[in-house]
Amino acid sequence: MQVIIVKDKAQMGKTAAEIVAEGMQAKEHFVLGLATGTTPIPLYRELIRMHRKEGLDFSTTITFNLDEYVGIEGTHEQSYRFFMNRELFDHVNINKKATHVPDGMADDAEMFCAEYESMIADCGGVDCQVLGIGSNGHIGFNEPGTSLGSRTHKTALTESTVKDNSRLFEKVEDVPTEALTMGIGTILDAESILLLASGANKAKAVADAIEGPVTATCPASALQFHPNVTFVITEDAATVLKLEWVRA
Ligand code: GLP
Repeated sequence: MQVIIVKDKAQMGKTAAEIVAEGMQAKEHFVLGLATGTTPIPLYRELIRMHRKEGLDFSTTITFNLDEYVGIEGTHEQSYRFFMNRELFDHVNINKKATHVPDGMADDAEMFCAEYESMIADCGGVDCQVLGIGSNGHIGFNEPGTSLGSRTHKTALTESTVKDNSRLFEKVEDVPTEALTMGIGTILDAESILLLASGANKAKAVADAIEGPVTATCPASALQFHPNVTFVITEDAATVLKLEWVRA
């Protein structure tokens, strides 16, 4: 596991974008796993800049997003499809048909989730999965207690996640209480994983993920099992880390 501690969010975005761009340039039909939330925004801004100024080409890139709320359309401003279009896809030369976000309006969620897994497999698996982290250690929408072997599934959100995410909605009652999410097992199948975290409210979750016991209580701790994980975190998100294992 590699842990890169950077000064601020802008540096986090630049460092992460370099890693993503290197992968995209090394492989045609690069399969990029994407995350929403405020954390990856600096990464998406930097990728857009690299596209505009340095010709970073998205024309053959394929993307799979981690998750989506249940019960809201992709046209809803708080849906993750809308977020991805606004924050990245609308500003680069990606083929929108090659961008996949779980369908939160699917009539048969179970069937949709199985299809999502097949679509990822048919593309050869995810080459690089970008992740944020919830303040309770969740990745995607895999809340504490989710099986570490889980596949794409429908899940209920914890009260703390609904509260955390309510800042983007008019009122807390508007926040969907269910979501579709890649499972922890799905995430661990990615060739490489890039987790971004910024802000003091993430410091405990980051330390638990990197240095705590591997437990479903902190879903991100499952990343300790993966051979190719990079954490890019800001200084304020690194304050609880001891990093003794790095120094040893
Ligand atoms: C949501 C998403 C996660 C994301 C988390 C943190 O719950 N499902 O993928 O990592 O929020 O969001 P933020 O980056 O805004 O703190």
